[in-house]
This record gives sequence, structure tokens and C-alpha cells, in this order.
Amino acid sequence: MGGLSKTIERLCEVSKNDYNNPYPYLQAWPRTLDPEQWFASPELISLYETPEYERLSDARKQRLSLYEAVNFFSLNIHGEKSLVEGLAKRLYEREKEEISPYLHHFLDEENKHMIYFAEFCIRYAGKIYPDKKVVFPRDYESGEEDFLFFAKVLIFEEIVDVYNVRMSMDETLAPVARQINALHHRDEARHLVFGRRLVTDLFHRYSPMWSAETLEGVRAYLKDYFVATWSEYYNPLVYQDAGLDDPWELREKAFRSPSGRRRRKKIAAGCVRYLLDNGILTEEPPL
Ligand SMILES: [Fe+2]
Ligand SMILES: [Fe+2]
Repeated sequence: MGGLSKTIERLCEVSKNDYNNPYPYLQAWPRTLDPEQWFASPELISLYETPEYERLSDARKQRLSLYEAVNFFSLNIHGEKSLVEGLAKRLYEREKEEISPYLHHFLDEENKHMIYFAEFCIRYAGKIYPDKKVVFPRDYESGEEDFLFFAKVLIFEEIVDVYNVRMSMDETLAPVARQINALHHRDEARHLVFGRRLVTDLFHRYSPMWSAETLEGVRAYLKDYFVATWSEYYNPLVYQDAGLDDPWELREKAFRSPSGRRRRKKIAAGCVRYLLDNGILTEEPPL
């Protein structure tokens, strides 16, 4: 784990120097928002390029963008809730002393993310969309549970970060939406460095001890996880709140549309490349 130690030392230093207090930002946010603004970049809206989307007036597209942003922030909150739980469980466990100093920063930063994501959702939409992911308990081979935990976190964060980077640079976005994306990216850049380093390390350390069946199961699980993660970006409750007809049908159409697939493939490309290059996956996940 030699290289990992150095990475951890460096990331801890940066986290200490970039220690952030989210509350002054929240105090500066407007009490209410003018709805005629963009809260998510149009090309990242789940319905983008569908005939139903193209037919909407700009005002209705902007209304949809608010609920898309609330969905994006909600799915982050749910991801971060289980992340914080999993990180807390692993603090100072045997064989994790080396990564524990960084787990403290990781935990602290994810907690702060939930504070601003939730504040936006509740202040401007009066709600956080419910979580849809379910995990069933089962037995694991040595190192398999840790590997899957950190690999799932990485996939989740890699996809989120592409959205964050694009929206943090989108000057047409409402300042509060742009700021949240920029703030999140600032911490996530470190989480991704840590995640990529640790996931490779865990995979090379433990996978040689797994049976062929376990290895195959791990790969299938990660591919399914991509599908489950993407599925959350297409939320019928968003379409309902935006006043669109047949929200469930619309969800299926948008998810299956060629432009939806193209967008998912492009956004996940960096993460998929990393998994393939390191032998973690041997084929692309279905997108
Ligand atoms: Fe986060
Ligand atoms: Fe993170």
C-alpha cells in the first residue's frame, strides 16, 4: 500500500488547507428564487432532445430544470447518507488504520455536502425526492465487501462530478445552482483521487483470492450498479412536479432514447475507461 500512503498524506494536507464552512454560503442565498432561470444545464436535463422536451416553452424548460436540480441534489444526499454510514463503519477497522485519517475528511466533507444539497431542496422546492436504491444483505469473500463499497462510491462520484464540472462552468445557471456544483467539485476532486487509488489497490490485493464465480459476480454487480445509478437520473416525480403529462411513460421513453444513451455513455466514459484499464471490468457496462 506504499503509493496509497503518500496519496493519503497529500490528500489530508489539501483537505486541512481547504477546510470549508458551508453555513455562510447558505446565509447568503436568496430566500426565494425567480423561477425563470436555469437550475440545471439544458443539455444535462434527462429529457433533453426528446420531442416532449423540445415542445416546451423556455419557461417550462426552466421549471423542469429546477426539479431536475432538486433530483440531482436528492440523489446526492441519498448516496452521501449511505457513504457516511459506510465510512464511519470502516474508521479504525483492522487493516484500515492507514486510510482512517483520510476517512475523517471524507466523512466531514460528505456531511457538509448534504447540508447544502438539502438546504437547496427544502428551501426552494419544499422537498427531497425519496431514495429508491435497495441493498440486500449477503455473504462476501475476503475483501469483497470493502472493494464493492468503494467501487460503488467511485462510480457514483465519477458520474456526479461530470455534472458538477459542467454546471459549475455554465454561466447561464442561477448563481446558487452554479455555486453548489462548484463547491461540490472542489471536494470531490480529492475523493476521486482517493477512490481510484484505493479501488485499484483493493482489487489487486483481494481479487486473486476470489473464486472465478465471485469475480464474475463482482463484475456483474458493478455493471448493474451503473444501470441502477443512471436510472435515478430519470425521475417521474420530477416530470410530474414540472407539470408534464404521463410522467412514467415519459421516463421510459427518455431512458431508452438514443440521445439519452449517448449522453450516459459520454458522461460515464472516463470512469468506464478507468475500470477497463485496470482490469476491474472486462467489458463496458450496458448504458
Ligand atoms: Fe459529496
Ligand atoms: Fe464525495
